[in-house]
Amino acid sequence: MIKLLLLLLVIFVNPTFAGDPVAGEAKFKSNCKQCHGPAGMGMASYPKVSGNPIDYTRNRLQTYRAGAEIGPNSALMIMMAKPLTDQEIENLSAYLKDASKN
Ligand code: HEC
Repeated sequence: MIKLLLLLLVIFVNPTFAGDPVAGEAKFKSNCKQCHGPAGMGMASYPKVSGNPIDYTRNRLQTYRAGAEIGPNSALMIMMAKPLTDQEIENLSAYLKDASKN
């Protein structure tokens, strides 16, 4: 029983388990908004990045971070994603999921 409680404690206290949308928003505004527009709504040739499931955004960002191409303009995103930490990817994914609703 004690072990189960400890396990639950670790899960809830460990910050890497869930993205923080507030931190994600701050990061987005300083690093991403200039291309993807306010709230990730997309601008000109830059795709809309808000409203997608967390899994989807996380997967895209991890793919770019690994240096792999997705579309014809991936070079830009690979450059942007390289310095992101796992936690920042979680935060950005959590923020972007609901960003367009705000
Ligand atoms: C210099 C402009 C630029 C900046 C800054 C930028 N992006 Fe992008 N982003 C792009 C382009 C261009 C694409 C499409 C790339 C391709 O063709 O694969 C893209 C694609 C994406 C995608 C995948 C969209 C999809 O559905 O396939 C996500 C997610 C994304 N960006 C998130 C971000 C985040 C988060 C940041 C900030 C850390 C960011 N971008 C900063 C230009 C930018």
